[in-house]
Amino acid sequence: MQDNKWGSRIIYQIYPRSFKDSNSDGIGDLQGIRNKLDYLKDLGIDAIWLSPIYPSPMHDFGYDISDYKNVDPIFGNLKDFDELIAKAHSINIKILMDFVPNHTSFEHPWFKESRSSKKNPKRDWYIWRGSDKKEKAPNNWLSQFGGSAWELDRTTEEYYLHTFDVSQPDLNWRNLQVVEEMLNTMRFWLERGVDGFRVDVAYILYKDPFFRDEPSNSNYLPEHHMIYDSLLHVYTTALPETIEMLKKFNEVINEFDDRFMVCEIYTFTHEIVNLYKIVDHYSFAPFNFSFISIPWNAFEQKKFLDEFDGLVGDKYFPTYVLGNHDQPRIATRLGDKAARSAALLQLTLRGTPFIYYGEELGMKNVDVPDEKVLDPIALNMKDFNFGRDPERGPMQWDKKEFAGFSDSEPWLPLEKDYTDKNVSSEKNDPKSFLNLYKKLIYLRKNLKALNSGKYIPLDLKNKNVFGFIREYDDQRVLILVNFSGEEQTAKLPKGNWRKILSTQMDTFEGIDKDQIIFMPSEGFILTN
Ligand code: GLC
Ligand code: CA
Repeated sequence: MQDNKWGSRIIYQIYPRSFKDSNSDGIGDLQGIRNKLDYLKDLGIDAIWLSPIYPSPMHDFGYDISDYKNVDPIFGNLKDFDELIAKAHSINIKILMDFVPNHTSFEHPWFKESRSSKKNPKRDWYIWRGSDKKEKAPNNWLSQFGGSAWELDRTTEEYYLHTFDVSQPDLNWRNLQVVEEMLNTMRFWLERGVDGFRVDVAYILYKDPFFRDEPSNSNYLPEHHMIYDSLLHVYTTALPETIEMLKKFNEVINEFDDRFMVCEIYTFTHEIVNLYKIVDHYSFAPFNFSFISIPWNAFEQKKFLDEFDGLVGDKYFPTYVLGNHDQPRIATRLGDKAARSAALLQLTLRGTPFIYYGEELGMKNVDVPDEKVLDPIALNMKDFNFGRDPERGPMQWDKKEFAGFSDSEPWLPLEKDYTDKNVSSEKNDPKSFLNLYKKLIYLRKNLKALNSGKYIPLDLKNKNVFGFIREYDDQRVLILVNFSGEEQTAKLPKGNWRKILSTQMDTFEGIDKDQIIFMPSEGFILTN
C-alpha cells in the first residue's frame, strides 16, 4: 500500500465568522483563529479549511466575493493572513482556503463593468442573454436559492445568470480570460503559502452553450424538495468541460509541492469514483457526503461503505464528512450517543476526515428566531422553512456570557447548552465529546492500521451492528458500531481481541468469550 499524505491528514473546517472574535465586534476573525491554533494543535488536527475570508458584501457570507486577492476587513488584512499561515506552519498545521470559481459578487468590479454596457470588454466575463419576450427569462433554469436563475438587468435590458442568489452572478468559464485570471488567483494564494483549496460548487462551472431548457424531475415532491430539484440539471451540471477544468485546477495545484484540493460535489458513488480515476493524482479528492445523505442504519451504511472503499481502491483515499456550514449539525440529526459513534466511524475509516468546528464538542444547531434569520436561502424561500444559520452558531469556548467567543453579542445566537458543552468544561471531563475526539485522533495517528491500513469488510450477523477491520502488516484493528437505540450483542470475528475504546469512554470490558455487548448506540475499537 502506498502512502498518501493527504489521505491520512485530518482536516478541520472553520467558519471564520463563528470561531473566535478578537476585537469585540461579535464576528470571528483571523486574529481570533490565530489565537486558538494551540487548541487545534492539541486536538491533533493536521490542516484547516477556512470558509471564505475574501472581501465581500456578505449577502451569502463570503461566498459572494468582490475581490479574490484580498481579505475582508471584518476578518483582518493580508498581513493577519500571512501571520496566521506562518504560525500555523510553525506548528505543522496546513491551511486550505475556499475557492469560489462559479460566481462572484455583483459588487465585484468585473461585474460592475460587465453590466455597464453590452460593449464593455468584461461583458463576456458573465453569462448574459436577451429574451424573445423581455418579461420572460431566456430559459427555465432555476436558482439553487429559489426562483429563476435569470435576473433582468435594466441597464442593458438583458438577463444575467445566477445559479445562487441574485447577488452572485455566474462567471462565464467559456471566456479564456476568465480561466486565466482564475488560475492565476489560485497561484497568487499558493505562492503566499496556502496549502490548497476546497473548491466551491465544483460541478457546475460550465453550462450548456445552447441554453436548452432542463427536463422536469419526475421524483420531485414539492413538500420535501426545494424548487431547484423540480428539474434535472443535465445542462448545467457535470458537463465534460467542467471535469476538464477540474483537471486544470489540479495541474495548478501540482505546480507546487504537497498541495491539495477537495471539491464540493453532491453526486453519486460511481461519479465520485470516476473523478478519482480521471484526476489521477494524490493531490485531489471529491467530497463524499454519504454520512449526510444515507440513512443512519447498519444495513444502508454497510452497503455503501463496503462498496465505496472497494471502488475507490487502495491507491486513492475517500473523504468522510459528518457536517458543514450547509448541513444540520450531526449531534442534532442523530442525538449525542449516535453522533459519538459517527465520529468513531469517521476517524477510523480509510480516508480523509473533515471535522466541522464544534463537532468535537457535540455542538448542536442553534435556535434562530425569525427576526434574526440571515441566510439568503431562508430569506428567499420563507415558506420552505429551511435555513443554514442554525449550524453556523458561535464556537463554545467556555461558560461565560458569550461562550468565550466574544466580549459582545455574537452575530448569531448561542445554543442554550453552551454552559455545559464548551471547550473549557469538556477538557476536564474524561468522558466528554472533546476527550473522545482527542482519543480517536490519537489512536488514528498512532496505529498504522488506522491511518493507512487496508479496509476489510465483515459480516457480523446482527442487523443493527456494523463493523470492519483495518489491517497493516500484522496489526489488526476492529471497529464495531451499534446503530440501534437498544442494547445489542454481536459475535466477534476470530482473534484475540482487546477493547481499547468505547464511545462511552468507560472501561467496562463487555467481552464474554467471543461475544461483545453494546449499550444503545455504542461503538468500539478493539485490537489484536
Ligand atoms: C456552496 C457553499 C454554500 C454557498 C454556495 C454558493 O454550496 O458551501 O455555503 O452558499 O456554494 O457559493
Ligand atoms: Ca471580530
